[in-house]
Amino acid sequence: MSTPSSLAPTVTLGNGVAMPRLGLGTWPMDDAQAARVVARALDMGYRLIDTAENYRNERGVGEGLRASGVPREQVFVTTKFNKQWHSVEGVQQACDASLQRLGLDYVDLLLVHWPNPDQDRYVEAFQGMVRLLEAGKVRAIGTSNFKHAHLQRLFDLGLVPHVNQIHLDPYHGRSDVVQVHRERGIVTESWSPLGRAGALLQEPAILAAAERHGRTAAQVVLRWHTQQGYVPIPKSADPLRLQQNLDSFGFTLSDEEMAAISALDRVDPAMLDSDVFGH
Ligand code: A2P
Repeated sequence: MSTPSSLAPTVTLGNGVAMPRLGLGTWPMDDAQAARVVARALDMGYRLIDTAENYRNERGVGEGLRASGVPREQVFVTTKFNKQWHSVEGVQQACDASLQRLGLDYVDLLLVHWPNPDQDRYVEAFQGMVRLLEAGKVRAIGTSNFKHAHLQRLFDLGLVPHVNQIHLDPYHGRSDVVQVHRERGIVTESWSPLGRAGALLQEPAILAAAERHGRTAAQVVLRWHTQQGYVPIPKSADPLRLQQNLDSFGFTLSDEEMAAISALDRVDPAMLDSDVFGH
């Protein structure tokens, strides 16, 4: 294990647990790639690793974690479970199975991966996670891809997730759900924060800011997330891009730059709709 050049700062969740403000997304890595990339990322200074039952790479993530030599308690590991486990008992089984695949005795954050409202059991799933929290098998609990209406069902029972991980980038500003997070003290975690490195990274507003700050377009987009308090989890399997993504703190976008990037928000008919899509 080498001495990392930089570590991401942390945000404090509603229950006092510290979560790094940037992490590594691992979809669509397989076990072998996840093992290599996770070990490398931890060596660089990443301290948040995001996986899921559905990614089928939890074994690789656990392997990379052990190979890195970074002490377990210094790493924030997130996983998520599929809809077949949406019951109080099912969630205990899902968590045990994830822990076994990861080779860990707790995870830092467990998420309901998709609400699957047609099945209508995500409230029970959340109640199952409350038990896991009490049992010390997870340090924090949250949701993923929940819209306001899904979160409201939890709020009505006095339940508040620590984190809601959603598809969010400058093209998908998600201001409606982010506002709800702000009101309830829920940390917003952004998946595909770089827009999968497509047209977004060629946007003039982003390239102009990159030029002014002597940064890459991806670093500007990640800073747009972190300046708003979002926790982005960019996926990269490339050593240089991994390092650049981690090194995206240490400069400040002006209000004008932030506004110009936020103005890229648009309706995307192809965006996955969590009232319809889920697994
Ligand atoms: P690679 O793994 O070859 O780096 P997102 O997290 O928004 O879904 O984006 C993931 C995609 O973006 C991957 O294809 C990844 O490819 C690419 N990517 C990750 N970091 C960067 C970066 N700093 N610059 C350009 N592309 C990146």
